[in-house]
Amino acid sequence: MCGIVGYVGRHNAVPVLISGLESLEYRGYDSAGVAVLQNDGIGIRKAKGKVDNLRTLLLNNPVSGKVGIGHTRWATHGAPSDRNAHPHFSNGEVIAVVHNGIIENYQELKDELEAKGYKFESETDTETAANLIYDFYKECNDLLEAVRLTLERIEGSYALGVLCSDCPDQIIAARKESPLIIGIGQGENFIASDIPAILEYTRDAYILDDKELALVKADSIQIFDIEGNEIEKSVYSYKWNVEAAQKSGYDHFMLKEIYEQPKVVKDNLAHRFSEDGKHIELDGIKLGKEQLKNINQIYIVACGTAYYAGLVGKYLLERIVRIPVNSEVASEFRYKDPLIDEHTLVIVVSQSGETADTLSALKLAKDRGARVLAIVNAVGSSIAREADDVLYTLAGFEIAVASTKAFSAQVTAMYLITLHIAQELGKISDEDFAEIKTALDKLPSQINDILTKAVPAIRKFVNKYIGSKNVFYIGRGLDYVVGMEGSLKLKEIAYLHSEPYAAGELKHGPIALIEEATLVVGVVTQESLFDKTKSNIKEVKARGAKVLAIAMKGNSSIEEVADDVIYIPRTHWMLTSILANIPQQLFAYYMALGLGEDIDKPRNLAKSVTVE
Ligand code: F6R
Repeated sequence: MCGIVGYVGRHNAVPVLISGLESLEYRGYDSAGVAVLQNDGIGIRKAKGKVDNLRTLLLNNPVSGKVGIGHTRWATHGAPSDRNAHPHFSNGEVIAVVHNGIIENYQELKDELEAKGYKFESETDTETAANLIYDFYKECNDLLEAVRLTLERIEGSYALGVLCSDCPDQIIAARKESPLIIGIGQGENFIASDIPAILEYTRDAYILDDKELALVKADSIQIFDIEGNEIEKSVYSYKWNVEAAQKSGYDHFMLKEIYEQPKVVKDNLAHRFSEDGKHIELDGIKLGKEQLKNINQIYIVACGTAYYAGLVGKYLLERIVRIPVNSEVASEFRYKDPLIDEHTLVIVVSQSGETADTLSALKLAKDRGARVLAIVNAVGSSIAREADDVLYTLAGFEIAVASTKAFSAQVTAMYLITLHIAQELGKISDEDFAEIKTALDKLPSQINDILTKAVPAIRKFVNKYIGSKNVFYIGRGLDYVVGMEGSLKLKEIAYLHSEPYAAGELKHGPIALIEEATLVVGVVTQESLFDKTKSNIKEVKARGAKVLAIAMKGNSSIEEVADDVIYIPRTHWMLTSILANIPQQLFAYYMALGLGEDIDKPRNLAKSVTVE
């Protein structure tokens, strides 16, 4: 949700800001802008739409300077427009601000400032911060102190980058509940919402914690707490390389990330077993027999795709460990006064590690004494730092807004956690464990198999079904969950109306929506439920639906009821979800491609949802 970048050094800041913003576009692309300290004051250029529009604007109307901040927006307060684009000036054009987050009490602050004679140009909450900083600055003549005093008045979340025309050598940065890092260069330093923005220049950074401020100059970085005391922080060195944040010959990041899945699953399985392969070893997770004996229920909490990965975990844990598991979307969990206590294990799942609702759910769970295990991709992210235990999903950067490889990594983590808990509590026999381990080892090559063989068939189905306006995904058990994820992908990038249903629930209402040529994707990989789902497919066929089935190799009787079938390799029942999801990802991708949609940057969406 909004990306921030800043540069202070010896070179022109503008190219650094533009390339940084391009790397951060996954966070929002409603508008983009830069502010640069020039000899005659701060120059701001901003434009509605993607960073490309800003780039064009800068060609016609350039700015340059050695200190600057930039922003790519996902609109919250005020429609996407040039006027609401960041950076925002204070009155008098003394202060310029970029902001990621939401200032909840902005109306109250705005009223106060208007009463003092301040004028506002935009509909944003951010302009309030710019004017408040200016108001304090006029009194104390100290930019850092003016920002600090402003933060004391702001309620809500923020990552801020601030420039002042009187302070030509510095940026002030601050953070609360929206991510911000301070990149460490040589003779130049940076601020950024996320490391890809500055990876070309440095891998070393300070990760700001909540209510911390930084005074960033070309040769120094000082960090302060909200009381204004200088604090020491350790440097974090990111392991990523620049290629990880590039398309590497693929047309879209989404396609690249789909094809990375064999490696991602392999990496997630490597080193997670004891040498003899008989036990799970999850580094950094203190969830042994003693802790688990104290747990009488599990909650799995997440949003979107991560929530569906969590749901896979619920089905597995309940069936194998026989412990009650509630799965909740974080935005519901946090406001429903959940029944959790010190005997509850809360598992939160998040790719970005910054999703506001998931983070708040985690804090609530901790406040109530629950033990929190986070399954997170982004190393050093807020969720990873707040949780009691962290299992990193080792998926690398996921840049496409639509999540693909992160899902496979999260589901793999669910397999490992289920096996670990089952083994610690004596709920799985050595034989069953060995059988599942053998099946797990085959997963990466089986994913590869689908990726190398299924594409021509999927493209054929896309051509056949491209006119579909409504698409239903049906399945039972784990297949139902997979259908939820498939349906979400199709909505997100192909903008098709799509609904997932528990196959057995269809006849209780939704079947009324099936008419001639409605497309139904039937996921039928669970052999114990095969006949049941096959009957439900017959029911929709009888009402004119066209059915594309995803089934396990060997179950060819599905061809009696489906119009088309995609087969996945045979595997253990508990491991079908990742395999069944790969054709769904490709189906959504090629549908969106066929419809000419912007696959990596779907409308209205952004990765890393740091607002509620
Ligand atoms: C869907 C998608 C979103 C995210 C959700 C949670 O393709 O990407 O639904 O899964 O916003 O994000 P994280 O995992 O970063 O907490």
